[in-house]
Parts: sequence; structure tokens; C-alpha cells
Amino acid sequence: MIYQIYPRSFQDSNGDGIGDLNGITSRLDYLKNLGVNVIWLSPHFDSPNADNGYDIRDYRKVMKEFGTMADFDRMLAGIKKRHMRLIIDLVVNHTSDEHRWFQESRKSRTNPYRDYYIWRDGKPNPNAPHGFDPPNNYPSYFSGSAWQWDDSTGQFYLHLFAEKQPDLNWENPKVRQEVYSLMRFWLDKGVDGFRMDVIPLIGKTPGLPDLSPEQLKDPSKVWANGPRRDEYLQEMNREVLSKYDDMSVGEAIGIGLSETHEIVGEDRHELSEIFNFDAARIGAMGGYEYRPLQLEELKAVYDRHAKVLGKQDWDTSFLGNHDMSRVVSRWGDTSTPEFRALSAKLLQTMVLTLKGTAYLYQGDELGMTNYPWTKISEFNDIEVQNRFKSDVAAGKLTEQQLIAGAAAYGRDNARTPMQWDTTKNAGFSVGDHTWEPVNPNYPQINAASQIADAKSVYHYSQEMIALRHSDPAFVYGDYQDLDPSQEHIFVYTRTLGKSTFMVVLNFSRRQIEYTLPPAVRAGNLKLGNYRTAVDEAGASTLHLRPWEARVYQQ
Ligand code: NOJ
Ligand code: CA
Repeated sequence: MIYQIYPRSFQDSNGDGIGDLNGITSRLDYLKNLGVNVIWLSPHFDSPNADNGYDIRDYRKVMKEFGTMADFDRMLAGIKKRHMRLIIDLVVNHTSDEHRWFQESRKSRTNPYRDYYIWRDGKPNPNAPHGFDPPNNYPSYFSGSAWQWDDSTGQFYLHLFAEKQPDLNWENPKVRQEVYSLMRFWLDKGVDGFRMDVIPLIGKTPGLPDLSPEQLKDPSKVWANGPRRDEYLQEMNREVLSKYDDMSVGEAIGIGLSETHEIVGEDRHELSEIFNFDAARIGAMGGYEYRPLQLEELKAVYDRHAKVLGKQDWDTSFLGNHDMSRVVSRWGDTSTPEFRALSAKLLQTMVLTLKGTAYLYQGDELGMTNYPWTKISEFNDIEVQNRFKSDVAAGKLTEQQLIAGAAAYGRDNARTPMQWDTTKNAGFSVGDHTWEPVNPNYPQINAASQIADAKSVYHYSQEMIALRHSDPAFVYGDYQDLDPSQEHIFVYTRTLGKSTFMVVLNFSRRQIEYTLPPAVRAGNLKLGNYRTAVDEAGASTLHLRPWEARVYQQ
């Protein structure tokens, strides 16, 4: 099980209101006790923080606010000592515009670093600012055009994300060698691999033609499937990954299930696994608009995973990360403390009983919720701030609409400080100011209180993780949805050899009397999310309480 830490928000050790590496080191026993095997650390590198570390200025330095290289080494030693592993975030589709390479690159058209980035002439247009339109119609993920005019050399550079995140030119073999070298630097230090940020986007479409109106609906699909993507990943594997005992997980934005094999198939020699967002992003309609979750859609996604992915195509299971709102607020039920805890446990049950590698995002083991945002100025995320400029200022959305969307689905929700205890700032920081506000519900939702309560979300997560680790059927077993058409009940089995588990999830706040399909009977209850377990072993009709989750051994 892999646990994601967003370092800025995990634990502050020196009172400046920003989480740091020494803070993480001080919490390693907590992670070990939870049952974590591997930690994925979001970027810890030197960065001006236009996108909170996903804009790297120096790949071989630790971000000043996070500490020093000695602090990193101490943290890594602490992780190893506890027999856990560490993967770090590799952000190499783009750098910061403050990276030395870009500083050089923008100096002149003949600078040796010019080709490290993607520079193009604009299209002459006397009415456009500077006399040019951008070279093509690519939009940036963070609003506006993906091209930024640069006065000093009179060309545009490409940035699929923020202006301060220029895209690297992977066609340049020197760029690729630089990346391999920095990967070796960290692997030689002892890290165990990488989560690779938007990695399919490194293979740009030759000639960078305009996107058609159809392609503009989902540009990631085009950007992720450039013709040289696999060549680059295979080269990276040959030159670096295959030489170490490591793992790699690609953030596979734009990659559909049918293309997954190309990247993770064992015969392909590219990455160990990827994140596919089909489940986590169900209902996304663009911007901050989402349809409410329909359980049938979710079942259909996992069914496709089982049918399309081959035996050698390693899968991942996750519902949250630092780019999404809190999973219990999104898909659970936060209307009462009881339903919040039950639905958080139910969602953990699902994530931890699906195939492949399971991931939890920090705070999900406590059932942390979205923050009650009310003002634009409270949001830190560049995505929200840019949407404010492009959509509210342009009259496409009212300020209230943007706030409502970002409050429900914005990335800041996942980035409010970890809630450790009932002391000042939830025990995250002793400072007077924290970089993101602390959720006011921390007196009710925090690690210390939950550790003291044997029936808490924390303890349930711990037990569910232990159960997953106790039987390989959860990781490798075949998946079968027993009753796809049930509107509120999700019931599936995981089978490996003689071992079969049946998971029953009531995705509603209703009491439901549910009759299992013919010939199916409940086995022995291994784990359930209610304080008073009702096991109904051997029964063919189950009396499920609101948000009840049960795992049976068949
Ligand atoms: C994906 C990361 O998860 C996200 O936080 C970041 O903004 C973009 N990539 C750009 O690096
Ligand atoms: Ca700090």
C-alpha cells in the first residue's frame, strides 16, 4: 500500500506554517503503524512554488522551506529503518522558468540551451499584442493559451501548465540525458523509484498542428499519444530504471485503458504502473462541473479494467490525491459525523480490495473532508486563481459560481493541513499562520482522537490494510462484479486459487435488504465498518445498514 505525502501540508517542524522534511521524519512511526509499505512524496525540490513544487528550479536541491539535503537523508534513513520505501515525484515534462536551463534558453536564439525548450515563431497578426498570434491553438491546463510570448527573442515558448512551467523538449537527446542523470542522482541516494508527473505528455506531436474542434474537447488524448512517447520511456527504462531495484508509476493523463498495456505491459519495458483516472474522475464535465456519482458508472469502469487489462498489465487503485477534492466529501456522505465515518470506511474498503497497487492520500485514513471555503482570496491554487482571471473577469462565470465549484472540487481541499490532534493548528504547526487554512473541524476529526478510539476511521483503515496484506487474492485475484445492475449495492469477489473474498458495499444512507444472486451465500465476515458487527454468515439475504461495508471470506 502506497501512502502519498504532500509535504507542504503534512507536518511543520519549525513553526513557519509550512510542512517540512523533519516534520515527516517525526511522523514515520505513525505511517509504519498504519501499515504503509511505500511513501510517495510530492515534490520536495527547490522551486519558486508557482505550482507548489511542480515547477522545479533545481532537481538536485531540497526546497528551502522543506529543509536541507541532510534532512532528506535523515528522513530516508528513517523510512528504510522501518522497512518502508520511498518514491519521489519526477516532474520532467516541464521545469520552472527559473531553472538555469530556461534562464539560458531564453537569452538568445543561439544559446546552447535554446533547444531544451519548445520555441516557435508566432503567426503574424497586426492586431495581436506584439504583432503575433500564438503558433497554434493549444490551451493550457491552467487557462488561456499554452504559449507565452517572450520579448527578449521575439518567440513564444510552450507551457501546457502555468506560464512559469515551460515544457521541456524531449526531442533533444541532451534533455533526455539530463533527466536520466538526475534520476540516477536520486536512485543512487537510495530512493526506490518515482511517481512521474504527466509523463505521457513528453512525446509531443511532430509539427505541433492545431487541434481540431473535436480534439479540443479533450486535448490530453492527443498530447499523451505522440509517436515517440514509448521510445522515450523505453530509453529511460533501458538507461536508468532497469539498472535499479525500483518502481515507477506514471500519472497517465490522457491514456485510456486500451493504451495502458503499451506503457505497463511487462513486455514493453517502460513503467511499472500508471494511474488511470477513469474511476476517480467519473462525472467530470470540464472545469469544476461534475455530475453526481452513479454507482453503475463506477462499476462499469472496474469491469472494463478487469476485461481490458491483461495479466501482465499491473493496475492501481486510488480515489484521491493532491489534485482532487477529499474523497469522502466527493463520494461519501458528510451530512452527519456518523455517516461521514461510515462512508469514509466504505470508500477505503473499496480502494483496498481492488486489484494492483492501492494508494491512499494523506488524511483519507482519518476521513478528512473538504474545507468550507467562502472567498476567492482563501484559495491558494494557481488553477483557481487563473480561472478567476480567465472566467470571472471575462464574464463566463460569476464569482459565486467559481467559488462554489472550487469549494466542491478544487485542489486546495486536499492541501489543507493534516489534522493530527486538538492542539493549535490541529498539531500541524505551532506557528501563528499556516500556508493553507486548517479545517475548523479538526477538534472532531484528527489522528490522536482516532488512535484512541478503536472504532475510528483510522483503526478501520489500519485493519483493512492489514487484511489486504494478509492474502494475495486482494492484490492479484480475479475480479468479478456479482450484480452490476444494483443501483446502490456494489458486490464483487476477488479470487486467487482457493481463496475468494466477497466485498459488499451499500453506497447509500438507506437500510437495504439485499438478496445475493442465486447460489451465492455470505461466508465468514472478516471485516465490517459498523461498531456492532452483524455477520449473517451463510445467509443469502443481507440486511445492510446505511453505508455498510462488509468483507467476507467465501
Ligand atoms: C500533475 C500534478 O499532479 C499537478 O499537481 C500539477 O499541477 C501538474 N501535474 C503540473 O505539474
Ligand atoms: Ca516548516
